[in-house]
Amino acid sequence: MKVWEIMWRGDLSDKFVLQKFLCAFLGCSRESLWTQMDKELPEETIQKILTAYKSYVDEQKPLEYIMEHVEFFGTKFYVNSSTLIPRPETEYMITAVTEYIREQGDQASNNLLLDIGTWCWVLWISVLLQNPGVFSDAIFTDHFQDALEVAQKNYHNLVKKEDAEVLFLRSDLLTFLFDGTYNLPQGNIILVANLPYIPEKTFDENVSDNVKKWEPRAAFIWGEDGLDYYKKMLDQVLNLIWGYNIHADSFIMFLEMMTRQIDILRRLYGVHFLFEEVKTFHFNIIIVKCCAR
Ligand SMILES: C[S@@+](CC[C@H](N)C(=O)[O-])C[C@H]1O[C@@H](n2cnc3c(N)ncnc32)[C@H](O)[C@@H]1O
Repeated sequence: MKVWEIMWRGDLSDKFVLQKFLCAFLGCSRESLWTQMDKELPEETIQKILTAYKSYVDEQKPLEYIMEHVEFFGTKFYVNSSTLIPRPETEYMITAVTEYIREQGDQASNNLLLDIGTWCWVLWISVLLQNPGVFSDAIFTDHFQDALEVAQKNYHNLVKKEDAEVLFLRSDLLTFLFDGTYNLPQGNIILVANLPYIPEKTFDENVSDNVKKWEPRAAFIWGEDGLDYYKKMLDQVLNLIWGYNIHADSFIMFLEMMTRQIDILRRLYGVHFLFEEVKTFHFNIIIVKCCAR
């Protein structure tokens, strides 16, 4: 079967998706696909295209899972169906952290980066690529082993030159800092976290069926107001600052959440932390910079 024959098959009516799979399996761009219409397709490639098309159209499987990659802040990351598909709003976190680092100027070196709830590791690699030479240590944690395996795969695929000491840890939020697993080095700490923050009811009523069917629910929701993880982590940070003599000025956090949630955190933690909305995505998702008072 030639490319044009599969392209114009009546039963494969979503031509946009079909083109995507043809390009992916032939390893070509959309423009060059048009110059290959007479190319004979091997049977194996035809089967791959048909299977992928069926998964997408009949089973509603997200394209990112079928193709096993996602583009995030200009980099191609491996994903599989045990990971959340990184969302464009999270790209705002990279810009926010980069702006903060630029503001620090020469002081921005020897930092420790904590990526809490890393999953496929999009945050740290993107921050690193934007800010080479700024981090001497980096720690990625996730509660789930599956997630850490995806993160490690991306690390080995994408990091060619080790710029920082890197550690992957399975941990419940910051527990690894209290149970003797890791001792914080001297210097500034930048923590990035996009923890599950969607209230259960909001998730059940608003999220599309294919997200519910395919993506891990545990990556999205936690608690009635969605903030149980952030509250627990802020309590841990307070314990660190008070109990371990960490200088409040040297600990800065960037957190993704829904717009209205910043007010809840201000009400509960405003005495201890300063919360500043630094980026807004489509009115309802924000990136918050948070530091101890
Ligand atoms: C919304 S996903 C974010 C993934 C990725 N950092 C991103 O921004 O695309 C939330 C992540 O938090 C992780 N997580 C959930 N509970 C956790 C916990 N108690 N401790 C550490 N990570 C947790 C989930 O496994 C998931 O990887």
